[in-house]
Amino acid sequence: MRIDIISILPDIFESVLGSSMLGIAREKGAVEFHVHDLRDWAEDRHRTTDDYPFGGGHGMVMKPEPIFRAVRAVEAGSQQAPTVVLVCPQGRLLDQALVEDLAGRERLIIICGRYEGFDDRVRSLADVEVSIGDYVLTGGELPAMVIADAVTRLQPGVLASVEATRDESHSSGLLEYPQYTRPATFEGRSVPDVLLSGDHARIAAWRRREAIRRTAERRPDVLDRALLTDEERAFARALRDAAATRGQ
Ligand SMILES: C[S@@+](CC[C@H](N)C(=O)[O-])C[C@H]1O[C@@H](n2cnc3c(N)ncnc32)[C@H](O)[C@@H]1O
Repeated sequence: MRIDIISILPDIFESVLGSSMLGIAREKGAVEFHVHDLRDWAEDRHRTTDDYPFGGGHGMVMKPEPIFRAVRAVEAGSQQAPTVVLVCPQGRLLDQALVEDLAGRERLIIICGRYEGFDDRVRSLADVEVSIGDYVLTGGELPAMVIADAVTRLQPGVLASVEATRDESHSSGLLEYPQYTRPATFEGRSVPDVLLSGDHARIAAWRRREAIRRTAERRPDVLDRALLTDEERAFARALRDAAATRGQ
């Protein structure tokens, strides 16, 4: 997979895209990152990429021309049209389903905003507008890194095992079960006995129930979308009723 990022702050990406799992993914050839300085497509000698908003108001707005030129230049020569992602707080909320969708694309171009955001005509370039949450950041660079990280770890060969992602929070429609490592007892609190039993079937059953319990307690909205057996759904309903009674 290839990810192109267009930003007025290209220098801030390297420490994230070059480190840890993302750096390894790049070395393995599972992903290519290309970060472009939007100012390279500005027209004037000051390399201007923003201007005052028509109609007045505070702040500056990102000009359309450099962004259109940048996207067209980055797209050029690509056999298959890349998926253009515009990061903005008005976009579709990023969730694991959208991450999986984007991870399956051959090429992504991520456009990062700054200031008060984009001239609205820039939206016509986007295949998808993505928000990473209902809050406003100063720029699109962190959202671009979030997307790059989330899609990279799903590329084949990046994680040690596919199972590692299958059980994770939001992949199966459930939050992940509680995890423990050594020591078996820490400050008087012990790891559940079943995890020390070596009985893989019992461990799997315990993890499934705890994932349902955790999801029912923390994210009942997510549980509604999870694939559960009738028995599991009854268990989840009982947990939710108990939580509601406690809350009365
Ligand atoms: C200060 S924000 C502009 C917010 C804009 N005035 C609004 O109210 O929608 C500047 C840029 O940061 C990025 N950004 C900020 N918050 C974001 C979020 N929650 N998700 C994705 N991108 C975000 C976008 O690229 C945005 O254009």
